[in-house]
Amino acid sequence: MEQVDLEMEALNQSLNDSVVLEEYKKPHDSYKPHLLPRILGRILVWCGNTVYGKEPSYLKFRAVEVIARVPYHSWDSAAFTLLTMFYQNENKAIRLANLSQFSRLAADNETMHVVVISALAKAEQKSNMFVHTTIPMLFAFFYFWAAYCLYIFSPKSSLELNYLFEDHAFEQYSRFLEKNAEELKKKPMASKYLEWYGREASNQYDFFRSVRNDEIIHRNKSIEEIEKLGARG
Ligand SMILES: [Fe+2]
Ligand SMILES: [Fe+2]
Repeated sequence: MEQVDLEMEALNQSLNDSVVLEEYKKPHDSYKPHLLPRILGRILVWCGNTVYGKEPSYLKFRAVEVIARVPYHSWDSAAFTLLTMFYQNENKAIRLANLSQFSRLAADNETMHVVVISALAKAEQKSNMFVHTTIPMLFAFFYFWAAYCLYIFSPKSSLELNYLFEDHAFEQYSRFLEKNAEELKKKPMASKYLEWYGREASNQYDFFRSVRNDEIIHRNKSIEEIEKLGARG
């Protein structure tokens, strides 16, 4: 059984075309998050760059992906909590159910990233237990509660923080593809998890390009969720 959302997968593939990608990206490129998410976003990126280096690498991506899946799980849990209180408001219930649906799909997508990338990283770089496993795990624990509380008290701030995180992830994957294009095209992909997930990639370039596309979809969807909050009044 395939795990992918077919509509999302079609969008992902269309973004392989650089003109389509630019058109998809542009409307949200100039979005300006508020001060709190900007400060939190800077701290996140600074921590990542300090521990794993500024330049993208397999092991940096592994750590980034452990953390990237967390806010989606937080939002799903926050929506569940809020529905315990607001189940009598049908419009709110629909909005929260939609958020849950998107969050679950995105969390599954990020889980695919972390599982497949950690298998690739094993063949490429030697990891350090504390730096590459313990730190992201501890960070993920605190990040879960931070994103959960932030969503309960200020959904917009939580979504804006994710916008910044996903924008950074997109930029890192783009740089990785640019720098290593030829080498990545020579490396064939064979991943049981990716096959189970329902995505095809003949080489690592194809795979990392599809991950890059996922990140820009996540970034833009975070803004679309903010717009839905605004439309609610
Ligand atoms: Fe990811
Ligand atoms: Fe993402």
